[in-house]
Amino acid sequence: MADTTSSRHPNGLYLMFAIEMWERFSYYGMRAILVLYLTKALFFDKALASNLYGGYVGLVYMTPLIGGFIADRYWGNRRSILVGGLVMALGQFVLFCSALLRPETAAEGITPIAGFMLFLGLGLMIVGNGFFKPNIAAMVGTLYGPNDRRRDSAYTIFYMGINLGSFLGNLITSLVGDTGNPDDFKWAFLACSIAMILATLTLWWGQNKYLLSWENQPVGITPKDSPGVSKIYIWLPVLLLLSLGIMYIDAFVTNIIFPFLVLSAVVIAYLVFADKSLSRIDREKIAVIFIVSFFVIFFWATFEQAPASLTFFADEQTDREVWGYTVPPSLFQNLNGFFIVTCAPLMAFVWGFLGKRNAEPSSLYKMAIGLFLLTLGYVVIELPVKNLVPGIKVSMFYLVALYFLHSIGELCLSPIGLSLVNKLSPAKYVSLMMAVWYLAPAIANKAAGMISALYPEPEKGIVTSFLGIPIHNLYEFFLINVGISGVASLVLFLIAGRLSKLMHGIK
Ligand code: PHE
Repeated sequence: MADTTSSRHPNGLYLMFAIEMWERFSYYGMRAILVLYLTKALFFDKALASNLYGGYVGLVYMTPLIGGFIADRYWGNRRSILVGGLVMALGQFVLFCSALLRPETAAEGITPIAGFMLFLGLGLMIVGNGFFKPNIAAMVGTLYGPNDRRRDSAYTIFYMGINLGSFLGNLITSLVGDTGNPDDFKWAFLACSIAMILATLTLWWGQNKYLLSWENQPVGITPKDSPGVSKIYIWLPVLLLLSLGIMYIDAFVTNIIFPFLVLSAVVIAYLVFADKSLSRIDREKIAVIFIVSFFVIFFWATFEQAPASLTFFADEQTDREVWGYTVPPSLFQNLNGFFIVTCAPLMAFVWGFLGKRNAEPSSLYKMAIGLFLLTLGYVVIELPVKNLVPGIKVSMFYLVALYFLHSIGELCLSPIGLSLVNKLSPAKYVSLMMAVWYLAPAIANKAAGMISALYPEPEKGIVTSFLGIPIHNLYEFFLINVGISGVASLVLFLIAGRLSKLMHGIK
């Protein structure tokens, strides 16, 4: 039997670390250049690019609901990750092909075949991710016994893999794709496709050697009572067609993804609370998961301006010259992965220091602090844009400071929320509650795209409006983000005490 008393982690964790690192390389690397590719290489306007981005990412985090279900019942985690990984590699490759066919000038316009390949590539990514992301996160937990104290630190190490991947992916795609020449974006997609092949090969190579439970049993294999593995393959093209249709309608006809996602959350809440076998305590804990996920929506909706409006801002309003080198605009998002990896030990130290003095804030307060740091980041960016005229550029210090504050905020909220959801869920609903935790970023990312679509361009006479209030300039635009995250933080601070009573001793 494996030694669960030492603090050493099983090799399976490092295998998961490597696989997730390559997958996040591909996901964040591609996302970093997506809106720039859409606006500069395909000549989409900012609003359409932002909406397409939001719809894409919204669906990316929606499909885990289906991928998690199929893995539990039909395929097991390993097969789901392998299939999802290959579908994603193909998706990136199709995007590479779409970029090969891009129009030379705005007047030429995107050809139907290139447009189709763009949607097909994004659709394959959505379907593939649904199988990949929830299963890899779930498998980390299965490597440990029920009361194994290494579980929390395992997730922290895993979170480092996520951010190392995001850092490297963003770095490579910015350097090879975001060069100033719109023809180069294709190399970013190719690099991401290769990363996905590496992710899949890593699992293929290591699964039998390293994916063992604390009792030395293989984990993530096809469930014993599976009604048949092949049955589900037929649903892959159906799921793909559905994603394509929904994405297309959302981008060009009417916003359907947002209400669709909210409805999914309401239906899940209804199904769970209708379960009569749940005790009152269980219900109260589940209610906390839903309430916390609700606040998390406001976090990601403003945080995920990074690949959208904040990248427009980096591109057009930030002085990017440093020692004669022009920093590509997409590279700024990279600061997130960098600060997470470098500041995580610092945060662990701070919590440990406070813990020894009995002053460590509970999870809910940490999350409220996370939201507050997000607000502070936007307050910093408000300073130089107050009287900014189009064409005048601000120092990159402001974006660096914003990303620093946002990353510390993420460290206060995201890994902590993940383990809180695990601790609060009754055993039979763990996977479903994980899916709820992913639905929050799904809704939020769609909302992020909607907010980014409000990016004003006064020089072009583009004035947008939010809740009927016109947005003339960047000061007013960033104020929306200050308001959303600020109010959410304040309310969470105010209700955290009451909510903790519903958590029945869990901190
Ligand atoms: N950086 C995190 C990740 O890529 C962001 C995230 C948190 C996404 C929670 C989804 C859910 O995993």
